[in-house]
Amino acid sequence: MAVKAALPEGTKVPCHVGVIMDGNGRWAKKRGLPRKFGHREGAKTFREITRHAKRLGISYITYYAFSTENWKRPQDEVNAIMELFEKYLDEVRDFIEENIRVRFIGDRSKLSENLQRKMASVEEDSKDFDSMTLVLAINYGGRDEIAHSCRALAEKVRRGELEPDDISTELIEQNLYTEEIPPVDLVIRPSGEQRLSNFMIWQAAYAEFYYTNILWPDFKGSDLEAAVLDYSERNRRFGGI
Ligand code: IPE
Ligand code: IPE
Ligand code: MG
Repeated sequence: MAVKAALPEGTKVPCHVGVIMDGNGRWAKKRGLPRKFGHREGAKTFREITRHAKRLGISYITYYAFSTENWKRPQDEVNAIMELFEKYLDEVRDFIEENIRVRFIGDRSKLSENLQRKMASVEEDSKDFDSMTLVLAINYGGRDEIAHSCRALAEKVRRGELEPDDISTELIEQNLYTEEIPPVDLVIRPSGEQRLSNFMIWQAAYAEFYYTNILWPDFKGSDLEAAVLDYSERNRRFGGI
């Protein structure tokens, strides 16, 4: 895709970028602050990076905001994160004005009804927008998502609408939460950890990975550009030569 901002001519911009927003807790700890301050600061980075991604010509950006494993955290931290979602979902509406489509992936049934309502309404109000798609992974787990797809297909088999032999990788894919969202090209993980932590394990099968020690609240537009430039130099073979 053509380059729109700050990047050198000829840069190959990934169509879909996945971001594992990590390091909020350590950012706060370094400053002697409670962890929730790190989450608040991380939410600011999220808004800044989303706008920058759009300027760079990225078509899809998915953020890992809360994993199916994050419920293991102390209740007060989980509550603080959920309160932040409530607040920031109102602000996500600003993105709608910028022609950005907003989608959510993950198991919503465990979230508060109020949050679920807000998510549905943002999705509905932005469904026709096409400058970029912003995907938020909330109570998302890659394994949970694959199980969800399998259940949907098993139900079709039970109803006699599908033969087991017809279950293909395409059908599994069509029943993931990311239906109609292309595979991830580049996964960015700040904070120094080098793992997926159950993020997009299906969709990232052929993704390129970019790790940096910068903590998410300190991550800047220039860091996103550095990741894209690094990606642009990679030779993606997809099993070929
Ligand atoms: C990521 O930051 C945010 C969520 C998982 C919700 P962390 O809270 O994991 O920050 P660290 O890894 O403890 O620094
Ligand atoms: C991954 O970060 C989940 C999100 C960023 C939402 P974690 O901090 O939960 O991952 P681990 O526990 O270090 O693998
Ligand atoms: Mg972490």
